[in-house]
Amino acid sequence: MSFAQPIRTLAVGYRGREKSDDSYTPTPYDVSGRQMKVVGGSTSVLLAKGLASELSAGYVEVAFERHPGGFPDGERYVRLLGSVTGEHVILVQTTYPDPMIVELFLLADAIRDAGARRVTAIVPYFGYGRQDKRFLEGEAVSAKTLAKHIAVDCDELVTMTIHNPELLKTFPIPAHEVSGMPALGRHLKSSNMDFLLAPDDNAVRFVKEVSQITATPWDYLQKERIDSYTVRITPKKLAVKGKSVAIVDDVISTGGTIATAAKELRSQGARRVIAACVHGLFVDNAEGNLKACDDVIATDTIQSPHAKVSVAPEFAAAIRALD
Ligand code: R5P
Repeated sequence: MSFAQPIRTLAVGYRGREKSDDSYTPTPYDVSGRQMKVVGGSTSVLLAKGLASELSAGYVEVAFERHPGGFPDGERYVRLLGSVTGEHVILVQTTYPDPMIVELFLLADAIRDAGARRVTAIVPYFGYGRQDKRFLEGEAVSAKTLAKHIAVDCDELVTMTIHNPELLKTFPIPAHEVSGMPALGRHLKSSNMDFLLAPDDNAVRFVKEVSQITATPWDYLQKERIDSYTVRITPKKLAVKGKSVAIVDDVISTGGTIATAAKELRSQGARRVIAACVHGLFVDNAEGNLKACDDVIATDTIQSPHAKVSVAPEFAAAIRALD
């Protein structure tokens, strides 16, 4: 039996029971007649509105609090404030921080209950993507756990620059990866950077992609992770003296990787150092670590003061390309 089958069965069974329950009454929203509608989770409202604009689609507002201030225990609440009956709904919700995962499930369920014809989950940052296998016996393969639950109410998934794109092939619904590097490339091209640096082997594919857009030379470092907060790089001569350099990575978490790479660049005479990432988590002492850089840019897959580049055009293109 494939990984997909039990979930499809679960979803169908669940929906079947729900529809046979006489007490279930769909919310009587007006039908606007649009072909596609966008719904944004509370951490992805700006990106979702940008996407609706790119697609010329309707935007359905959502109430995230039943009472001002929300529930005292921090539980999430959602209520659709417009119709999605019969519509193809684009549900945009990032999965960081953790409560946003619950909110994603609530929204998907509410959208289905309201009679959507098709639900496409846009998960700009796919949290738990790094637990993509069972490293130790007894562990959850967390990335698959999320995918299974998204598949209960969503027909397909589109995410951006995921840790292991191969994992998407194992998901129970069609799942696609869109690259966030073109968005970073657009920004860096207009910032006139002289040089790009991948802070580790893993980021080489990212820096290569950005370099095709910015037409700048690049190099990479060898990184060894000591623990969650500490990394060590192998000393290497870089052609950065007097240059403006962008360090390009998929994720900035604690900023330890960027700080270590930035120090190396400074010690080799780089004039200006900026950090560019798709997903800016900025946890723990990240802001302190990032003082090693002149500027930090991230995309809006996760909202933060550094989210200066929108990936709405990238997701719009991906949605237009769906079957
Ligand atoms: C690792 O493979 C990733 O590409 C990033 O380099 C890493 O997640 C960054 O973490 P931190 O900011 O905590 O060094």
